[in-house]
Amino acid sequence: MLRTQEDLTFALLASFLVKKTPPSTSPLPVSSRCYTLFVAASFKESEFNLTPVVCRLGTAAIPQLTQIEQAHQPVPWSEKLFLDEFAQSNSLTYGARMAGELCGYVVFRIFQDEAHILNLCVVPEVRRCGIGTVLIEETCRALHRVAVKWCSLEVRVSNLRAQKLYEKCGFHEVGRRRGYYQENNEDALILKVSVQDLIDERGIEYV
Ligand SMILES: CC(C)(COP(=O)(O)OP(=O)(O)OC[C@H]1O[C@@H](n2cnc3c(N)ncnc32)[C@H](O)[C@@H]1OP(=O)(O)O)[C@@H](O)C(=O)NCCC(=O)NCCS
Repeated sequence: MLRTQEDLTFALLASFLVKKTPPSTSPLPVSSRCYTLFVAASFKESEFNLTPVVCRLGTAAIPQLTQIEQAHQPVPWSEKLFLDEFAQSNSLTYGARMAGELCGYVVFRIFQDEAHILNLCVVPEVRRCGIGTVLIEETCRALHRVAVKWCSLEVRVSNLRAQKLYEKCGFHEVGRRRGYYQENNEDALILKVSVQDLIDERGIEYV
């Protein structure tokens, strides 16, 4: 049984190095999420592979999703908004986990041959570790499987770090919506990428 943070650190390191699966501690100690992600983040610059596990999320993840939204998004999605979103048959949510902890997610909807990303967030502890990129890549891998050709989204003109991420993934500007964000009347840039181009350019394997 794990009792101290040192024990937890050891278990986490072992799980990263040996199995890349979370240690068998349940439940984790208080503030474990921050601590787990802190340990994960400390690997950021190391030689070890920090690839998160990405999988589709269901309604069971809503409490975690809303907690992250409240803490880290300027206009957070509510529990009801997530519930309504999960109820849409064309909506998908993928989550990224590291050491078992949800550390990022992407929500998108498919409309015939185009998908639209509605929400993307990575918790601050592990930003700039490539998780946002992995979530976009996984989204496009899923879209490619169902022959969706395009992926688009809106981003605030002031959100330069997100724009950098999208640019790196091959998105390009196709328009602007004036005053799209009602709380501060900010414009949105409309960005779009060809799913096939993203798959080819980033060398993403698919089956
Ligand atoms: C935008 C966001 C999802 C990026 O996630 P992330 O996991 O940090 O992104 P990545 O590590 O994959 O970064 C990929 C690239 O994006 C760019 N980027 C990301 N964060 C950056 C920053 N703070 N400053 C400059 N460039 C940045 C870089 O080009 C980076 O590549 P590099 O690290 O090789 O230079 C994250 O910052 C976030 O959740 N922000 C708050 C919510 C939000 O803005 N969502 C987008 C709404 S449209």
